Amino acid sequence: AHHEHPEQIVWSHNGIGNIGITGTFDRGQLQRGFKVYKEVCAACHSISRVAFRDLLALGFSEGQAKAIAAEYTVPSIDESGEPTTRPATLADKFPPVYANEVAARAAQNGAYPPDLSLITKARHDGTNYVRSLLLGYRDEVPTDFQKADTLWYNPWFASLAIAMPPPLASDEQVEYTDGTAPTINNYATDVSAFLAWTAEPKLDNRKETGVAAIAFLLILTILGYLSYKKVWRDVK
Ligand code: HEM
Repeated sequence: AHHEHPEQIVWSHNGIGNIGITGTFDRGQLQRGFKVYKEVCAACHSISRVAFRDLLALGFSEGQAKAIAAEYTVPSIDESGEPTTRPATLADKFPPVYANEVAARAAQNGAYPPDLSLITKARHDGTNYVRSLLLGYRDEVPTDFQKADTLWYNPWFASLAIAMPPPLASDEQVEYTDGTAPTINNYATDVSAFLAWTAEPKLDNRKETGVAAIAFLLILTILGYLSYKKVWRDVK
C-alpha cells in the first residue's frame, strides 16, 4: 500500500493562482494556529527555532508576547553561578518539551515527536501534508493491513501507521475568539498555516522584495525600449 497524496487547499500565503509567487500570511489564521499549537501540539512537540519575539510578526502586541513568554521556563544561572530557571523573555526561544530524545521516546511508547519548526519544509508539500495528516485518522483499517496496537491507521503517514494519537479529537476542543468556527477542520488548517510560518517567517518580506524587483525591471525595460526608439528614430 502507498500513502495518500496530500489534499490540496487554497492558502492565503500562496497568493494568485495558489502557486506561491504572491500572497501573504493571514495574521488572524496564524494567531489561531498558534493557539492550537500551544493548547494541543505543545504537549509533545517543540518549536525550538521560534523566539518569543517572533510572535510580534503574528500581530501580537509586545505586552501579549511578553505575557506568553512568561508562561514558559528556561534554564538560567543565579548570582552565585548555580544553574537555576527563570521565566522566558522575548529574547528566548520556545524551550524544548523534553530534556532530550531519550526522554521523549520514553514518554511516547518509543516514538519521537519531531520538533515542528521546520516540518512543513521537511515533508513534501508540507503544509497540505500536515493538514491532511491531522484530518487523516481513519477508524476503518483495511482488513489486509497489519499494525501494532499502539499505532493508529493514517493513510497520509508514510508507513500508514503512526504513533501519534489523533491530536484533534473534537470540535470546540480549542476556543476561538475571532468568530471563526471552532471545528477540527479549521484547527487542522490554521495550525498547518502556523507551521508554514514557523518554517518560513520571512516569506512575506521575501515576496515583497521579489514583486518590487519585477516591477523595477519592467519599468527599466519600458524606458530602455523608449530610448532605443528615440535614438534610432532617424535611421531608416
Ligand atoms: C509526529 C504534528 C500533536 C505525538 C508528528 C508529525 C507531525 C505532527 C507533522 C510528523 C509526521 C511525519 O513524520 O511525517 C502534530 C500537530 C499536533 C500534534 C500539528 C497538534 C495539532 C501531538 C500530540 C502528541 C504527538 C499531542 C502526543 C500525545 C507525536 C508522535 C509523533 C508525532 C509520538 C511521531 C510519530 C511516528 O513517528 O510514528 N506530529 N502533532 N503529537 N507526533 Fe504529533
